[in-house]
Amino acid sequence: MSMLSLQNIAIRYNKVPAVHDVSIEVEAGEIVALVGGNGAGKSSALRAVAGLNPVAAGKVVFNGVDITQVPAHQRTGLGLSLVPEGRRLFPKLSVEKNLRLGAFTRRDAAEIEESLDYAFTLFPILKERRQQVAGTLSGGEQQMLAIGRGLMAKPRLLMLDEPSWGIAPKLVTKILDTIQQVNASGITILLVEQNIKRALEIANRGYVLQTGRIVLAGSGRDLLDNPEIQKAYLGI
Ligand SMILES: Nc1ncnc2c1ncn2[C@@H]1O[C@H](COP(=O)(O)OP(=O)(O)OP(=O)(O)O)[C@@H](O)[C@H]1O
Ligand SMILES: [Mg+2]
Repeated sequence: MSMLSLQNIAIRYNKVPAVHDVSIEVEAGEIVALVGGNGAGKSSALRAVAGLNPVAAGKVVFNGVDITQVPAHQRTGLGLSLVPEGRRLFPKLSVEKNLRLGAFTRRDAAEIEESLDYAFTLFPILKERRQQVAGTLSGGEQQMLAIGRGLMAKPRLLMLDEPSWGIAPKLVTKILDTIQQVNASGITILLVEQNIKRALEIANRGYVLQTGRIVLAGSGRDLLDNPEIQKAYLGI
């Protein structure tokens, strides 16, 4: 049984279709990349998994349970966490406050402190800046904070929507390394990226989304070696 199974999902905005008949499987322990160009429907799909977009058709199944109708906050409690596109931090609140808000579904104070320590271990700069307001962080630091906040929910599946967006190449490497490190600690990853090469390099498997449909799927390696992908996305 897959950890996450999207079964023939359709998403519409005011009746305009954005995602058609998309099926995706994520096995426990994997890093799965969902890649594609602007407007392909990547964020829509992640938001549907998080419960932030209703689906017009199809099912979202998490650990064997149909969660299609489960509200977003309850999905967080079940172990699904989304680091959204554009980070969506609270700019006037401190780094620490932003992190703690990620734990809003949790009750065990000692475990929350453990998760805070974990976020600070992954991103020591956040510890140094824990009292600084989030809006004054650099773009890269804000992305680290968004990932840290996502981890504060103690997810089993962490979804990341374009974590490399708008940050310097050196930091992109750091962020992707950290995603691998998080995965190695036992958290399953569903990663959306426009940085297709970097995403497929760290992914076990990938799906290519084009105008709302899955057009290719395979191992990260096979997709990187695929001439169609190289021509369409990698400029080779
Ligand atoms: N709230 C919305 N209202 C109306 N249309 C929307 C809305 N959100 C997304 N869309 C449309 O749905 C389609 C898919 O958008 P989506 O944001 O999922 O793509 P994406 O693959 O994440 O793109 P990007 O790489 O630019 O972030 C696009 O045509 C977009 O214009
Ligand atoms: Mg998007």
